[in-house]
Amino acid sequence: MKLNFKNISLFAGASILMMSCSRNPDSPGYEYMPDMYRSQAVEAYVDYGLIKDVEHEDLKNTMSARKPAMGSIPFNADPEMAEVMMPYSFTNTEDGYNASKGNAIPMKYVSNEETAIAYAEEGKVLFGYFCSHCHGKTGKGDGAVITYGEYNAPMPYDGGYKDRTLGQIFHVITYGKGAMGPHGSQLNKDERWKVALHVRTLQYGNLMYSELMTEVDSLNAMKDSLKVMSPLMIDTNVIELPLDGSLNHESTEEAHH
Ligand code: HEC
Repeated sequence: MKLNFKNISLFAGASILMMSCSRNPDSPGYEYMPDMYRSQAVEAYVDYGLIKDVEHEDLKNTMSARKPAMGSIPFNADPEMAEVMMPYSFTNTEDGYNASKGNAIPMKYVSNEETAIAYAEEGKVLFGYFCSHCHGKTGKGDGAVITYGEYNAPMPYDGGYKDRTLGQIFHVITYGKGAMGPHGSQLNKDERWKVALHVRTLQYGNLMYSELMTEVDSLNAMKDSLKVMSPLMIDTNVIELPLDGSLNHESTEEAHH
């Protein structure tokens, strides 16, 4: 056989075709440039364990994305918002749940009726994404997940859950409760307060602004008169913060110990 250009390219073409075949029907075949498929860069949700072309079994299929260190505070240039984003000090316990009843919504959200209603409207949108498939659009506990069956229905917000305060609703969104999973990683604290305001709207048919202000004022008055650190912060992983969320230099220091 003459080694002319035509023959060489035919031979090369055929062998490339055959080499990409494999007996396993699920196999994508041979990979010529695996780093095009499996990045050597750190990928957030899948690690191929490749470091300088060497595969490390122990690194494979683990998530590279890590949660921020316990007690991390997201930066916010707006002091009011920075306060909202302070670590949540109520623990995921029965005691924490009961005490959260007295956790007043930050004034930022309820400074006047219009503002409060606007925030509740924002909460309504989030509620549509994160809650209504179980709780139903109007909070009757009749979302599609429930009506489809096999999942216990939550009580209606304007029924069995009518007495829940904004603080408790915030707590339940954060940690979940019973058959409801936690939503703290999906909704930040700002979003949780907004959703809680919308849930209140569903509890009463409207925000009941003046009653809400009476509640908030009395909770804040209690907090001011007590001026104590939260007794609930027994979880050593949680940074001790004054209940009013103000972070002084001392408590920043504590966080490092
Ligand atoms: C997967 C379905 C599901 C989703 C999604 C869900 N919930 Fe629930 N929720 C439940 C169930 C079930 C209960 C009853 C929990 C129990 O006591 O067992 C409940 C209970 C509650 C309660 C009352 C808890 C109490 O006893 O104080 C509130 C408030 C609440 N949910 C709010 C929300 C909000 C707000 C969202 C969206 C961020 C949400 N839920 C998303 C299923 C869900």
